[in-house]
Amino acid sequence: MRRKIILDVDTGIDDSLALLYLLASAEAELLGIAATAGNVPAAQVAANTLALLDLAQAPPIEVALGASEPLAIPLRTTEDTHGPQGLGYAELPVTARELSARSAARMWVDLVRAHPGAVTGLCTGPLTNLALALRIEPELPVLLDRLVIMGGAFNHPGNTTPTNEWNIHVDPEAAKEVFDAFSAAPADRRPIVCALDITETIEMRPAHLVALAEAAGSTPLEHVAATDTPDWRSCASNPIIAYLTDAVRFYFDFHQHYDLGYLAHMHDPFAAAVTLDPGLARTRPATVDVELAGTITRATTVADWAGMWGREPNADIVIGTDPAVFFDRLVTRVGALARRLYPEQP
Ligand code: BDR
Ligand code: CA
Repeated sequence: MRRKIILDVDTGIDDSLALLYLLASAEAELLGIAATAGNVPAAQVAANTLALLDLAQAPPIEVALGASEPLAIPLRTTEDTHGPQGLGYAELPVTARELSARSAARMWVDLVRAHPGAVTGLCTGPLTNLALALRIEPELPVLLDRLVIMGGAFNHPGNTTPTNEWNIHVDPEAAKEVFDAFSAAPADRRPIVCALDITETIEMRPAHLVALAEAAGSTPLEHVAATDTPDWRSCASNPIIAYLTDAVRFYFDFHQHYDLGYLAHMHDPFAAAVTLDPGLARTRPATVDVELAGTITRATTVADWAGMWGREPNADIVIGTDPAVFFDRLVTRVGALARRLYPEQP
């Protein structure tokens, strides 16, 4: 049986790979996609997501627009990380696909109520719309089969402030509402949390783009490098490979700019892979809370691993994985999708 999924994204370069990974995976059934403000404004997230569905020749999948602002603070976006439109150097044609008539929060609630106990939520952006959905339906933690969150940093530095991970930083009030809502969830319903501790070990490199092109049968094989100028664009014969090359190359440049090497952390696709196969991750239960008051630590995620607060665990935090297994799946699945959708002409 296929896993029913609601994807909540702020597309976003790595969000786009998460989407392609799900579309390339036979065991995933995407019920709906929530477009959440984060990396870029919500309307741009929605436009990017719809355009990607076109690129992947996906069947009609509902895309619902999320709130334009976080719960309590103004929106901060990060075009320097993800490019002017959020897709790096890539530009996709405008799509004829239309947005859903209902809001992202409404879609969350309606879809989960329609399939009680059978939906897995995957959040790869700020938690604004899930928090709004929880205000409508506080039973979501027990109505969902499982929730997977990309967010937070525990025994690890932040990527936005010294202690903040981006998705939590954008809307810390929403993150707190979500973690609080799961405080009474049974152990098998606790959110699986893919934080920076683990997602920064998921290092995509130029060789992975080459492997994707090979798997897709795309030509020529392009070896992108830090010396490429910003105006260089992929000539890959396969449109999905051309997209990935132009999008991910921007992410490589961004990481290189911050002295992290010519690589890119694939936070969101890893969370997608864990959603389909939790066995990919070793987890440890903890009680997670979000600091809202600290003058220099606001939006920090804190994990109580030892029960010092006397509160039940509300999260299973990923503490280990084998990145090579993940990349093997990414290359095999997305490469095969690209080859099937855009076969080379003899
Ligand atoms: C997260 O922040 C975003 O920029 C990425 O898409 C990812 O979801 C990593 O901190
Ligand atoms: Ca994201």
